[in-house]
Amino acid sequence: MNIQILNQKSGPTISRYIYGHFAEHLGRCIYEGLYVGEDSAIPNVNGMRTDVVEALKAIKIPVLRWPGGCFADEYHWKDGIGPKENRQKMVNTHWGGVTETNHFGTHEFFELVKQLGCEAYVNGNVGSGTVQEMSEWVEYITMGGVSPMADWRRENGQEEPWAMKFFGVGNENWGCGGNMRPEYYADLYRRYQTYVRQYGDQKIYKVAGGANVDDYNWTEVLMKNAHWLMDGLSLHYYVHPKGWEEKGSALEFDENEWYVTCQKAAHMDELITRHSAIMDQYDPEKRVGIIVDEWGTWFTAEPGTNPGFLYQQNTIRDAMVAAITLNIFHKHAERVHMANIAQTVNVLQAMILTEGEKMIKTPSYHVFELYKNHQDAELVDSYGSESETISYTISKKEGKVTVSICNFSTSDEEEISLALANGTVLEANYIFADEMSAHNDFDAPEVVAIQPFTAYQQTADGVAVTVPPMSVTTLVIEA
Ligand code: AHR
Repeated sequence: MNIQILNQKSGPTISRYIYGHFAEHLGRCIYEGLYVGEDSAIPNVNGMRTDVVEALKAIKIPVLRWPGGCFADEYHWKDGIGPKENRQKMVNTHWGGVTETNHFGTHEFFELVKQLGCEAYVNGNVGSGTVQEMSEWVEYITMGGVSPMADWRRENGQEEPWAMKFFGVGNENWGCGGNMRPEYYADLYRRYQTYVRQYGDQKIYKVAGGANVDDYNWTEVLMKNAHWLMDGLSLHYYVHPKGWEEKGSALEFDENEWYVTCQKAAHMDELITRHSAIMDQYDPEKRVGIIVDEWGTWFTAEPGTNPGFLYQQNTIRDAMVAAITLNIFHKHAERVHMANIAQTVNVLQAMILTEGEKMIKTPSYHVFELYKNHQDAELVDSYGSESETISYTISKKEGKVTVSICNFSTSDEEEISLALANGTVLEANYIFADEMSAHNDFDAPEVVAIQPFTAYQQTADGVAVTVPPMSVTTLVIEA
């Protein structure tokens, strides 16, 4: 395969927020995964697991979405503030019917965000909450002066308002967020977002609840009726190799299922293209972003685990899905302003899995690590000759070109010539596997790990690279 760099036009900036994450009150994502409580024997700072926080900082987590998901439209934020022993418990009806203690609430979320050094993306409750409740939450979080909610926040120990960059007005309001018709939700969106007031200097980026997969009518109705009142419109798409009912196993699959999974990941391109084309009719300047605030693989929960906890293992196949999808987001960087992989720890396509005090990084984590140079880089336009199993991105930042290549063939290596002037390779790393189901486990945490990549040569017109099957490679090259 040949890749030619096309330098005619400068590309859009790949927003760092494309590398966002999502943490819901679901299974062991928040409790155990991120938050263990101040009294835990697991090393923590104010209840947040130190190992997990450090691992997420290492991949430069830019933004964290919370508290859901479906949970968001049943969450009543006032239950989650004040002394923990007084917090009202609730049933987490969506996710296993377990008791939610509300010990992780607004103060704990902003503590976590502070420790991670990332932006906050809070998702409000439209499905079962009132306008007043949503409005007061925004006041509680962001009001600096004197007000009932700001005073209450101070009584609860937080003097200064927090910075909240993103706010979601409902979640999946076509489904778990209220089973609404798009016309009805569009009206509710207009009403609720009115009271998402800006108290501080920071403009709150308002995200309207968007479509499920290919529900293009939803996008049409929302854009037509409310585009000038939103900054972003969400899109949710999960990869289920065997469909929504059967889903498929995370660890046991054949070659056909491998390729179906990769093809379904690649379908994100068509979804963004078509939703974006509808948005173009109302917003040709691409001011309103597509916010893919839930994406990733969704397999059958691991045998022996609570099916409502959505715990699944993560193999080199998940790494392919992550790389293919991120490459698609980069290509659409003008329209995709943020994305949040589901979910950060112990749920669906997780970055991190924990078991008691043990923690492992998944192959998907390593893709985010290999790709972190693309955050806020300029997309480099290129032409790649046909290949059915290669997906790649080239970007430029601070005088360096970063080339990331995913070879999702199960059997064939691929020779790639990169036509790049001054092609001095400064750094090259990759992950790869010999087996389709290669994964990390608590007894074998480094089966898939980042390693130095050496299969490249400087040539007269650039760099020649040979990428093995089932691999993701990143080369940093002098620009
Ligand atoms: O991520 C799991 C669930 O998937 C979320 O709660 C919901 O928004 C979506 O259906």
